[in-house]
Amino acid sequence: MIELRGVYHSYDGEEVLRDINLTVKEGERVVLLGINGSGKTTLLKILNALILPQRGAYTYCGVRVDKSKLKDRDFVRSFRKEMVMLFQNPDVMLFNPTVYDELAFSLRQLGFEEKQVEERVLHWADRFDLIEHLDKPPFKLSGGQKQKLCLACLLVLEPKILLLDEPTANLDPRTTGWLIDLLYDLNITTIVSTHNLSLVPELGDRLVVLGEEHSIVYDGKIETFLRDEEKMLKAGLLHKHRHKHGDREHAHYHFHL
Ligand SMILES: Nc1ncnc2c1ncn2[C@@H]1O[C@H](COP(=O)(O)OP(=O)(O)OP(=O)(O)O)[C@@H](O)[C@H]1O
Ligand SMILES: [Mg+2]
Repeated sequence: MIELRGVYHSYDGEEVLRDINLTVKEGERVVLLGINGSGKTTLLKILNALILPQRGAYTYCGVRVDKSKLKDRDFVRSFRKEMVMLFQNPDVMLFNPTVYDELAFSLRQLGFEEKQVEERVLHWADRFDLIEHLDKPPFKLSGGQKQKLCLACLLVLEPKILLLDEPTANLDPRTTGWLIDLLYDLNITTIVSTHNLSLVPELGDRLVVLGEEHSIVYDGKIETFLRDEEKMLKAGLLHKHRHKHGDREHAHYHFHL
């Protein structure tokens, strides 16, 4: 349903994505791994059609996503409903007077009947433990609660594809566990970015790694990558420490977390 062919992107003349080829089928759970600055957020923004690839092609469900397609209101409307993205710092997106209105906002924008809005808002508020906060202004929630609210705001749309940019960055271990279970239960196509190696096996079943050179250096089974120290070193995901014990020196590897 998603296909990138030979995609490049640069900011101010500096390439941050190089020759990206990626196909994602319905139902896949992809983890996008790469160090800071490798281009994860840029790649997700391209998939979400927030930026257009400067070279190469992006096809979504057989439709070429380009400048002219983004002027087609019917396409944009269904695209925005089907493919949603949780930003790295999503709480800056919260602006409604109450949590309820925040959850209802995009449904109202899309012209849903108020009865159906209420039904979906209550369903997702309940699933995210937000019922008791419905009348509060979103800025009064804690960081983790805001993060949950942002995700709930996307799920009320019942999207087909969920793009998540470092969704666990602000969450405590319990909430991280909760999110992992939720994503598993949702059973929709997800692409999740992270630089946290230890979470990779829990977040999906296919791994795509962006290297320091901003191209895809691995695409395949998670376990195979995690067993390959050389590949991880090359992607900048491990670093070497040297220790001296008396006159003996030994080196060992650490995960970048
Ligand atoms: N709007 C922008 N204007 C100019 N340069 C940008 C912009 N956004 C990102 N960059 C640069 O592009 C490169 C890739 O950034 P990107 O945010 O895609 O990386 P990332 O893998 O998501 O990093 P992180 O793990 O830190 O979130 C970085 O060098 C960054 O400085
Ligand atoms: Mg990022």
